[in-house]
Amino acid sequence: MAWTEGESVEVLFRAEEIQARVRRLGQRITLDYQGKALVLLGILKGSFVFLADLMRAIALPLTVDFMAISSYGASTRSSGVVRILKDLDHSIEGKHVLVVEDIVDTGLTLNYIYGHVRARGAASVRICCCLDKPSRRQVAVPVHYKGFEIPDEFVVGYGLDVDERYRNLPDLCRLVRNPA
Ligand code: IMP
Repeated sequence: MAWTEGESVEVLFRAEEIQARVRRLGQRITLDYQGKALVLLGILKGSFVFLADLMRAIALPLTVDFMAISSYGASTRSSGVVRILKDLDHSIEGKHVLVVEDIVDTGLTLNYIYGHVRARGAASVRICCCLDKPSRRQVAVPVHYKGFEIPDEFVVGYGLDVDERYRNLPDLCRLVRNPA
């Protein structure tokens, strides 16, 4: 399925496989956060599909908040520039925050968010990502829960985009750029 000429996608993880993985993550999180005031903090936009599935796999009372951070724009490589476009709506003081991210690449975004959330007085901060690309890491970030580890490939679908395209693909796919 191609949105743009010269581009195609290849399935990496099918929707069923993703759902099974997300269910297991939800079960673990449910066990780990028993009796705690849990806030899921989704990082827009990429995490919204993963977050929507994950929150329904967690059998605990919880609240949801969002932050938006400046992203790649039209490029597929991190600029290293991190800027808050939308901050938290509610106080997280004394709350247990689980940051939900689509993918950890260089780690620059999450490193910033982790510090930001800790500075707001959260009782604890953990990170849950759908995908992890450890070979691209520039700063170490503690990833407590992860869906899948992948090599250095650009991935789209299941909420992830390139230049806002492909977010609605139900599978996680590798983006292939075909020479003209
Ligand atoms: P980091 O700061 O380099 O870790 O970048 C994290 C952000 O870059 C993610 O939240 C995504 O928005 C974006 N990103 C990194 N790799 C990919 C990819 O393979 N596909 C789509 N977006 C990506």
